[in-house]
Amino acid sequence: MPPIDAAEVSELLLDWCGADREDADAAAAAVTDLDGDLMEAADRRYQSIAADMGGRLWLRWPKPPADRGAAGRLLGLYPVLAAVPLMLELHRERGVDEALSRLVLADVGEKLRLNRRLHGRAALDVAFWFTAHVRGTIYQLGRLQFCMEGTTAMPRMGLHIRGEGGPLSPEAVRDSVERALAFFPATFPELFPPERSMTFMCSSWLLDPQLRDWLPEGSNILKFGELFDLVRPASYANAGGRDDIWRFVFAAAPDVLVERLPTDNTLQRSVKAGLEAGVGFQTRLGGLNRKRLGL
Ligand SMILES: CC(C)(COP(=O)(O)OP(=O)(O)OC[C@H]1O[C@@H](n2cnc3c(N)ncnc32)[C@H](O)[C@@H]1OP(=O)(O)O)[C@@H](O)C(=O)NCCC(=O)NCCS
Repeated sequence: MPPIDAAEVSELLLDWCGADREDADAAAAAVTDLDGDLMEAADRRYQSIAADMGGRLWLRWPKPPADRGAAGRLLGLYPVLAAVPLMLELHRERGVDEALSRLVLADVGEKLRLNRRLHGRAALDVAFWFTAHVRGTIYQLGRLQFCMEGTTAMPRMGLHIRGEGGPLSPEAVRDSVERALAFFPATFPELFPPERSMTFMCSSWLLDPQLRDWLPEGSNILKFGELFDLVRPASYANAGGRDDIWRFVFAAAPDVLVERLPTDNTLQRSVKAGLEAGVGFQTRLGGLNRKRLGL
């Protein structure tokens, strides 16, 4: 991994990733503790990115050690930051606007904020997620993120939704998908030939039809769910969706008891009422029905 010092960590986090000063300071301070086996682990992660630029399969990284302080909790952050120049080079080669490079990196700042809410201190618990960002595989266009996924010649588009960025209104969704339909064939013409139609998939707690029993009519989440044809119940780890509900709805760690979950807004009150009634919300996989968006 190219050497990365405290000043560079701070600059990348503040100027490119939109991180809070508190998180940038903590990450900059902890980078000096990255030596020995921690540095080796960070380097292995960096090499896995550098060897797979443009790669579409998720790079699953092992969990960072829990007992090594801030450098351990932020272990995955450093190789991601060290790989930003690789991402910028790929973006430049493809003619991707710098504003889009910044927008995709803003997710790092957001997830540091989320981790601080979850754990009360600086951490980055799902750092492998950002290997898609720095390998040039995922782009945020408007409200939504689109990740080129799958091994077939023409990727399917995985649709992802950040927490920050405002309401998930149908107009915002339409605008994003419209942008994606233009952006990907223009940027990766070899992957998106004009004669083949792009497909958009989403795997999320947002698509669970059980939410209809609990969220108020008019909820953007319900309107979003209606845009998808569900494929099948998810069959992978956390298919129960419990951890995602805890994380994304309540910003709570998975061990927080239902009765302790916050009820600060309509979404939290509605979902909590469902949980208290014994509903097991699920992650569901769906294909976007473009006709319902008029696209
Ligand atoms: C997806 C998301 C943007 C939808 O927000 P939305 O468009 O406001 O959705 P709705 O109209 O259905 O819900 C509105 C209510 O949810 C609340 N809400 C919005 N985002 C929220 C969040 N991240 N956490 C908790 N509550 C949230 C709003 O305050 C509002 O309640 P209020 O009327 O009492 O103020 C939002 O739930 C979110 O940010 N989720 C986190 C990211 C996520 O889950 N991504 C998918 C991962 S698989």
